[in-house]
Amino acid sequence: MSMVPIGVFDSGYGGLTVLSKIAGLMPQYDYVYLGDNARAPYGTRSFDVVYEYTLQSVKKLFSMGAPLVILACNTASAKALRTIQQVDLPQINPANRVLGVIRPSVEAVGNFSKTRKVGVFGTTGTVQSQSYPLELAKISPDIEVFQQDCPMWVPLVEYGEYASDGADYFVEQSVRALMSKCADIDTIILGCTHYPLLMPKIRRFLPQGVNLLAQGDIVASSLKSYLLRHSDIESRLTKGGTVRFLTTESVDKFSGAARIFFDGDLAVEHVDL
Ligand code: DGL
Repeated sequence: MSMVPIGVFDSGYGGLTVLSKIAGLMPQYDYVYLGDNARAPYGTRSFDVVYEYTLQSVKKLFSMGAPLVILACNTASAKALRTIQQVDLPQINPANRVLGVIRPSVEAVGNFSKTRKVGVFGTTGTVQSQSYPLELAKISPDIEVFQQDCPMWVPLVEYGEYASDGADYFVEQSVRALMSKCADIDTIILGCTHYPLLMPKIRRFLPQGVNLLAQGDIVASSLKSYLLRHSDIESRLTKGGTVRFLTTESVDKFSGAARIFFDGDLAVEHVDL
């Protein structure tokens, strides 16, 4: 029987922070991860380019047999998800599904905030798209959102500098910039899947008691409940417990760097989109 995996996509390595939580919660399924490392970062790219690259990646994951693709990338979720769901999917394969990471994060945040002042750290693209404020206004209209883009954070993570002393400067700068917008922020969403690696540093510069939400666990439990509710998709998935990694960059580069995001030996393949 051929494999029917869950597809997980990110511009680079960040989506591995989500994949590790999803596969940890639901190890029974098969997974295929695609990192478009050759064209990362997406955060500073235009709507059209992010949409085009994301659509190519989704089609690749469909062609690998995945009927369900998770965009484990806020930038792609913000700039490409809606068009892919509404325009492309009905043409490509109406029975397939593509889900993002913003909606589940927004659904979860209301349970954490008491002051109803919420912060979001994200890429410039995610912040400019206004996806978080727009989605929050629909789900928790009493919450006020304050956003801060952190253009240096993805490069720090992608280049393995996330724990270095040099990273402190850029982390402190963005944390202070966000907190200066509203001192009552009590909950912050890490609205980029690369940022969990900077969590210890972010915490160091935040006032005590502020909730810092990484998306991995949130997306994993939301996907679990989605699969319980959608047996049409769930019943198609094979349950071999395998994880396959694809990158548009060099295989060696990916397997070296991916180890910090995902435990164990990784069998990586190169793909062209
Ligand atoms: N990790 C991605 C996100 O969640 C994007 C990083 C990038 O390519 O800029 O937004």
